[in-house]
Amino acid sequence: MALQSAALLPSAFSLHKEGKSNASLKESCLFGVSFSDQIKVDSTLKTKREFGSRKSAVVRAQTAATTAPTFTPAAAQGKKTLRKGTAVITGASSGLGLATAKALAESGKWHVIMACRDFLKAEKAAKSVGMAKENYSIMHLDLASLESVRQFVENFKQSGQPLDVLVCNAAVYQPTAKEPSFTAEGFELSVGTNHLGHFLLSRLLLDDMVKSDYPSKRLIIVGSITGNTNTLAGNVPPKANLGDLRGLQGGLNGLNTSSMIDGADFDGAKAYKDSKVCNMLTMQEFHRRYHEDTGIIFSSLYPGCIATTGLFREHIPLFRLLFPPFQKFITKGFVSEEEAGKRLAQVVSDPSLTKSGVYWSWNKDSASFENQLSPEASDAEKARKVWEVSEKLVGLSD
Ligand SMILES: NC(=O)c1ccc[n+]([C@@H]2O[C@H](COP(=O)([O-])OP(=O)(O)OC[C@H]3O[C@@H](n4cnc5c(N)ncnc54)[C@H](OP(=O)(O)O)[C@@H]3O)[C@@H](O)[C@H]2O)c1
Repeated sequence: MALQSAALLPSAFSLHKEGKSNASLKESCLFGVSFSDQIKVDSTLKTKREFGSRKSAVVRAQTAATTAPTFTPAAAQGKKTLRKGTAVITGASSGLGLATAKALAESGKWHVIMACRDFLKAEKAAKSVGMAKENYSIMHLDLASLESVRQFVENFKQSGQPLDVLVCNAAVYQPTAKEPSFTAEGFELSVGTNHLGHFLLSRLLLDDMVKSDYPSKRLIIVGSITGNTNTLAGNVPPKANLGDLRGLQGGLNGLNTSSMIDGADFDGAKAYKDSKVCNMLTMQEFHRRYHEDTGIIFSSLYPGCIATTGLFREHIPLFRLLFPPFQKFITKGFVSEEEAGKRLAQVVSDPSLTKSGVYWSWNKDSASFENQLSPEASDAEKARKVWEVSEKLVGLSD
C-alpha cells in the first residue's frame, strides 16, 4: 500500500497526458496525491476575501475552558453591535483546524472553541500560532468514542455558551494500515471517527445552533476531493465506493461483518475516502432536512491540497518527503496551511458564502466557487440511507 501510494506520483501525469480528464495538471491535486478541485466548475462565485487492533478510548473528564468567550455589548448610542460569534472546531490542534482557528481568532470577531483529544497539544498549538487567550478555549473531545462525544456535548451545554458555527474538521487517515483498528464502540477507526463521531456530535448540537441568535449560523463538514470520483484525484485507486452499505449496516466491526462500508476487505486509504463521502452526504442530508426550517447554512468544502499537515503522518517516509515538493513544484496544487485556514474561515463567516447545501472549492486565484460533487457523493437516496443507518449505529434511533 505504501509503495503503491508513492508510485502514484507519476500516474498523475499519465492520466493527464492521456487526456482522460478535463482537469489541467496545474489545477490538480492527487491525494493519494491530491490535486485541487477545479474540475467541472460550473459556476464561479468570486468572493471578497475577509481574511488576507481494537482500541479503547478513555473518556477523560478534562474538559476545561481556558477563557470564557466575550460578548460585545450594544454600542452606546443604541446601535446594535454584532456580538462575537462562537465557533466550535474539531481537530483544531494542528493543520487545517489550527490554521482556521487562528484566522478566526485574529479577526477579532470570533471566540473559537478548540474541540480536541489532546488538551496539552491544543494549548501548545494555540500558543505557537500566537492566538490571544481571550479568543479561544479548549474542550476535550475524542471523536473515536461516542461516550466522549456525548460528554463533550453535555459539557458544552452546561457551559451556557451559544453555538453559532460548528466545524467538523478532525480526521484520521491510515493509508498504510494492513489491519483495521477500531473506535471505543468497535467501528472501523476512519469511518468511526471522521463520520460517525461527527454525525453524533452535529446531531446533538443542532438544537444549540437553532437556539442561537447569531444572524448567520453555519454547520460545516470538511470534505475532500479524494472522495469525489468525478475528479482526477478521486480516480486514484482505491476509489471511494459505499456500495450498498452492507458493511455500515453491519456495524463495521470486522467480526461478523466487514470493517468497510461496502462490505469489502479492509483498505485504510479507501476507508478514509469513504468516510469523506459520508461527510459530504451528511452535509446534504442536513441541508435537506433542516435548512428551510432553521435557516442554518450547511456546507462542505475541499480546502486544497495541504501537503504538509499531520494527516499524512502514517504514510511512508519517502511519500512524506516527496509529497510537498511534488505538489509545490510539479502540480502547483499545493496550498499552505495558512491559505487553507483562510479558506475554511471564509466558509465560517464570509457574508457571500451563505448558500446552503454547497460544496466549496477554490480556483488557482484563490477565488471560491460552488463545485460539483461526484454522482455518489451527491446521491440523495444514499444520503438518506447513510443518515438512517448512522442514526442507528450512534444510538439515536432503534
Ligand atoms: N491535508 C490535506 O491535503 C487535506 C485535503 C482535503 C481535506 N482535508 C481534510 O482536512 C481536515 C483536517 O486535516 P489536516 O490535513 O489538517 O490533518 P491533521 O493536521 O492531521 O489534523 C487532523 C486533526 O484531527 C484530530 N483528530 C484525529 N483523530 C481525532 C479524534 N479521535 N478525536 C478528536 N480529534 C481527532 C487531530 O488531533 P491530534 O492533533 O490530537 O492528532 C488533528 O487535530 C480533515 O477533515 C481532512 O480530511 C485535508
